[in-house]
This record gives sequence, structure tokens and C-alpha cells, in this order.
Amino acid sequence: MDLKTPQEISIEEFKDLEVEVAKLTTSDAEREWLESCRYGEVDVLRALLARFPAIISHSDTKSGNSGLHMASANGHLPVVEFLVYHKHSFTKNASGNTPLHWAASNGQASIVSFFTSQKCLGDIDVLEKNRFGRSALTEGFSSQKEGVVEALLEHNSATEEKLLSVDSKSKSHVVHELFDKERPLLIRELAMINADNPFADADNPDQDTTGLSIWSASLVLARWLKSKSWSKSRVVELGAGCGVPGLMVASSEMAPQKVYVSDLNPLTVENIGHNIKLNGLKDTEALRMDWCDKDTWPKESVDVVVGSDLVYQKSLVPLLSSVVLELLGSGGVFYYVAPDSGRDGLETFIDQMKRRCPGWVQIDAPEEYYTNPLSSGDDEDFFLHFNELSTLKFILYEFPVPPA
Ligand SMILES: C[S@@+](CC[C@H](N)C(=O)[O-])C[C@H]1O[C@@H](n2cnc3c(N)ncnc32)[C@H](O)[C@@H]1O
Repeated sequence: MDLKTPQEISIEEFKDLEVEVAKLTTSDAEREWLESCRYGEVDVLRALLARFPAIISHSDTKSGNSGLHMASANGHLPVVEFLVYHKHSFTKNASGNTPLHWAASNGQASIVSFFTSQKCLGDIDVLEKNRFGRSALTEGFSSQKEGVVEALLEHNSATEEKLLSVDSKSKSHVVHELFDKERPLLIRELAMINADNPFADADNPDQDTTGLSIWSASLVLARWLKSKSWSKSRVVELGAGCGVPGLMVASSEMAPQKVYVSDLNPLTVENIGHNIKLNGLKDTEALRMDWCDKDTWPKESVDVVVGSDLVYQKSLVPLLSSVVLELLGSGGVFYYVAPDSGRDGLETFIDQMKRRCPGWVQIDAPEEYYTNPLSSGDDEDFFLHFNELSTLKFILYEFPVPPA
């Protein structure tokens, strides 16, 4: 008898069990073995193993599911410990799923932690994919169980390097398919240049490379703007970065007369142009616009200004609020989305805009705006690219400019 997993029944009961087990044929015993793993009956397993020592390596001939798969999926830690103690192998089933895949997909945090902390199981790789291209980590994300994801990410096979090489962010660019499965919005995101300081300094805003990647606020803004009707209006997106909200507006059924998707950084503007082409959008212009230089602004008046996460240095505030108000005549509207905190100057900007636009409206972003925007529904990609959607709270602001 092994000392590691305690016996759950009395000595007499165990003796009765041994008598019952002795009556079984090998194939009955194998069936009983898998069922006992599934239902967590550790003493039946103990009796079966004593009588049929080779049963430890039994798995279902068709599916390849082993006792360890069964116990892991159902969260029976004493059984898992018993099997591992008796050197049950950590094999894949016919679909390429390891017991770790099954534990992760069923949100069994204690089993995942046990596997990821065991040296005796050999080279566990939490990023190893099954035949459907899903790793235990992907399954863990889908289970939405925090303890599961935490244990998987802490394992040494989930190094940042490896995560990034699985993740397409390690390439120079990635094209995301967003929001709609049938007609996704295609947005190319570029690898961040100067990733250690993408914000540049206030004197050199053209060196700001933050717009090369998508900020989560822009996904929230795009979802908000999707529900609006734009016909006959002219819209400009400020500091658009990859241009998700502007392109969402331009691709809507009631599209505006004209959309300017603007930014200052030349590479960012080039990328916006690329994204406009990718989506085949008409009446949409990638505009190199410098807030400080009126000559670069749209040559016609606009009705709506939109923007996301534009304030992150207090010194920008007076400039940005005057650009918004000058671009919009009275009757114009500014739609803005930002996280509720953590941006230098944000409070001052919002206070200033509220004073200038007394009809302002402020709403907490509805829950559905925080969900995975990727058409693929891939939770691992979602986490890797847009984790601010899971960690920050976003606020929607509407600022109608009053009559002069
Ligand atoms: C933090 S990013 C946000 C990008 C985008 N709105 C998003 O949410 O994904 C700020 C953007 O503002 C742009 N920007 C900064 N200063 C600017 C200026 N003076 N004129 C025009 N755009 C500017 C940057 O180039 C950058 O693309």
C-alpha cells in the first residue's frame, strides 16, 4: 500500500473490495479503472492496481484517454496524486490533449497547480498545442478561472519569449480581425518602436510612437460609435493611432459624408492609410494632422470629433481642448473614451471640457464593451494584445458644443 494517498475506507471494507476485484476479468477491470478515475474512487484504484499491476498504463483504445485524463478533468486531486505516485505516464490522447489540457479547460485549478509544480512529470509545456492548435494555456484562458491561468503562466515553459513567439506581436505587424465574424474590421497593428519610451517628450510629439499599436480605449470607443447614425456628417478622429474608431465609423451602414482619420506620426498615418485600403473604405482619408499646426487640419468644418486615450501628459491639455473646440463649431459633438485613472492630465482635460460643454454626458462603459473584440474569439490573443480591457475601467464622454 502506498503511504502517499491515504486510504479512505476501513481495512475491512478494503478487504471486501479486494474480494470483488479478484472476480473481475482484465477488460472489466480496465473499464472499472477509468470509471474510478472519473469518479475519484481512490481505494478502488488501489485494489485494482494491486491485482492488475499493468493497469496503470491502460488508456481507452479509441480516444486514448487515460485514467489521468479522467481524474484531471474532474478535479480529483487525491486520484491524480495516487496515479502520479505510481508512475502513471503523462500521455496525450488521440486529439493531442494532455491531462493538463483537460484540467485547464475544465478550470481545475488545484490539478493545474499540482501538474505545473511536479518535476517528476518531465518536460511539461503549457504552450504545447493539441490537434486543434490549442495549448493548455489557451484552454486555461477559455475556462476564465484565475487560479488556472496564474498557475500556467507561472510555469517555466511560459517564458515571456515563448509567449511572444507564439504571439504575433513578435512579428513586425499583425492584422487583427475585429468585432464582426461575417464582416470583420481589419486593423493592422505595427510593432512598437521605442517600446521603452513610446510617448516621446512634449517638445517632439512627432516622435510619439504610441499610435503604432491599438489601445484598448479605441476598442471601447469603436463599440460605442457603432450604434450611432452618421449620414451627412463630417467626422475627424484625433490622434487615431491604428484608427479603429474612425474606421468603424467609416464602415458603418449609415456612413458619414467624410471621415478624416488623423495622427501626427508619419508611420502611424501611413498605417492608417493601409488600414483604410484593407477595408476598402470610401470617403475616408488618412490625414497627417498636427494639433499645433492649423495648416494641417481638415480644410472644411467638421460636425463630430472622436478620440480615445489622447491625454497622458498634463502639458497637452490646453492644446487638445482648444483643438477640439476650434474644429467643432457650435452644435458639434466630441465623443471621447479613456480609462478612469492612470493618465496624467486626464482629470484636468475632462474638467475643462465639462466647463466648456455644459450639456456633457458621462457613462461607464457597458459590460459588453469589455469582451473579446477578436472575431476569432481566441482568448489567449485577447489577453496578450488587449489586456487593459480586463484590468481597467473605461468611461464614455459626450461633449456637445453649446451655441456661441
Ligand atoms: C496613446 S495614443 C492613442 C492612439 C489611439 N487613439 C488609440 O486609442 O489606440 C496617442 C496618439 O496621439 C497622437 N498624437 C500625440 N500628439 C499629437 C499631436 N500633437 N498631433 C496629432 N497627434 C498627436 C500620437 O501620435 C498617438 O497616435
